[in-house]
Amino acid sequence: MVYALLLVALAAVAAAAVLRHYLPLLRGGLPKGSFGWPLIGETIGFLHAHPSNTAGGFLKEHVARYGTVFKSHLFGSPAVVSCDEELNHFVLHNEERLFECSYPGAIRTILGESSALVVTGERHRQIRSMFLALVASTGLKASYVASVDESARSLIASWRGRETISFCEEARKFPYKVIMEQVLGLPPDGPVALRILEEYQIFMKGIISLPITLPGTAFSKAVKARKRISETMEKFIEDRKRSPTKQAVFLDVLLANKELTHDDKVAFLLDSLLAGHETTSVLLSILVYFIGKSPSIIDQLKKEHEAIRSTKGKEEPLTPDDYRKMEYTSRVINEGLRCGNIVKLVHRKVLKDVTYKGYVIPAGWKILPILGAVHVDPSHHLEPEQFQPRRWEGLNQPAGKSFAPFGGGLRLCPGSEIVKVEAAFFLHHLVLNYRSLLLNKLNKISGVSHEKPEENRAKPTCGSLLSSSRFK
Ligand code: HEM
Repeated sequence: MVYALLLVALAAVAAAAVLRHYLPLLRGGLPKGSFGWPLIGETIGFLHAHPSNTAGGFLKEHVARYGTVFKSHLFGSPAVVSCDEELNHFVLHNEERLFECSYPGAIRTILGESSALVVTGERHRQIRSMFLALVASTGLKASYVASVDESARSLIASWRGRETISFCEEARKFPYKVIMEQVLGLPPDGPVALRILEEYQIFMKGIISLPITLPGTAFSKAVKARKRISETMEKFIEDRKRSPTKQAVFLDVLLANKELTHDDKVAFLLDSLLAGHETTSVLLSILVYFIGKSPSIIDQLKKEHEAIRSTKGKEEPLTPDDYRKMEYTSRVINEGLRCGNIVKLVHRKVLKDVTYKGYVIPAGWKILPILGAVHVDPSHHLEPEQFQPRRWEGLNQPAGKSFAPFGGGLRLCPGSEIVKVEAAFFLHHLVLNYRSLLLNKLNKISGVSHEKPEENRAKPTCGSLLSSSRFK
């Protein structure tokens, strides 16, 4: 009897969910589009890898057939997909009023319920305020800038004399070093940092895998790795509380925060690793890939960085003032962000029915603003597949709605300035130490050092970087 009641209750809940999702289909005013296959919808086609500086076959074909706003069935939910810069901006700037951040269950399970990308409302504000405090504690402060400079210098110096390097691996080391030192105050080569790094790599593989909770799958391994990182962080936090060191690091600011629970603090550390580490290393790889194909861009970068270096000693650290002089470099970085589309889309849930430019966007559906599609739309960016830093000339604050690599509104990425400083300093040391970057076919990059060209022919290779896009 109890089982029968339970079954009826489950069936009622499932039927209500199905009705809520599919009833809107009976109404008029929805954008055009197709739901694809039962259950999986069009998710597989949507996730198909494509060059990062194009919209990819799926979006090209759907936009040609249905327009820049269309309906689909993605990530287990009916969805409105937006490749329209106005609608994207509208969605980002109506967070919590009409839309709410809502990542797929698998990402939520792995990130944890206290992740900045999962929490909403007041808890989001509390956790976000810690990220803003982190940015304020680093920002363009001389000590932070000097530490980024040292990390970039030592990474590039470590390539000297090596015959081959895997560039993507190397690119990961740099932001990792910065985060470990700045947030945790840990030596990046020490046992705790290495243990976290090892677990983190397992964790990352799970984020881009299918959410199958069977033993041995990438997803289950990632969930376990998260638990182990969380335990390591807990132990580290306890040790730190027992014997605080004199070195002021952000961890102390975090620990002193009384509003956050212990779980929130662990999730903050994981978020910093995930958001700050993976994205930055992908940006560096993308920059090397594109500038490696253009000797004239390397020459212009070199001119700018030689001029900055000529005002200081060979080993003298870069300063916030030096960073402000890196105008051409900042255009190169913007172009890397545009062509790299590191965060191609954001996930939102529709809280109440919205009518926008004649379309009905139904409550309960997902809406997916595709930030990357706008970046490669020829009506906003001339010859969008071309890597052309000069398109940003004279634009101090690059075009708002048609360039949003860091999202916008309440969830605008708090790390944007941090990542730009890291990329600029990395490029400084790269172009001053390497005469040219030679790329071979796909994802392969080789560098020739100024000093010993023959010995320093490094041939870094990159594996697949992103779940849904690859280098051109
Ligand atoms: C190239 C590098 C980066 C890119 C392209 C990027 C992009 C983004 C985007 C598009 C969002 C918005 C997500 C959404 O609206 O759902 C976001 C959020 C976020 N990013 Fe970044 N990010 C980068 C680097 C960083 C760094 C270095 C940090 C480290 C502090 C960081 C921390 C965060 C956090 C904590 C959020 C969540 C903010 C919130 O929900 O309030 N990101 N990022």
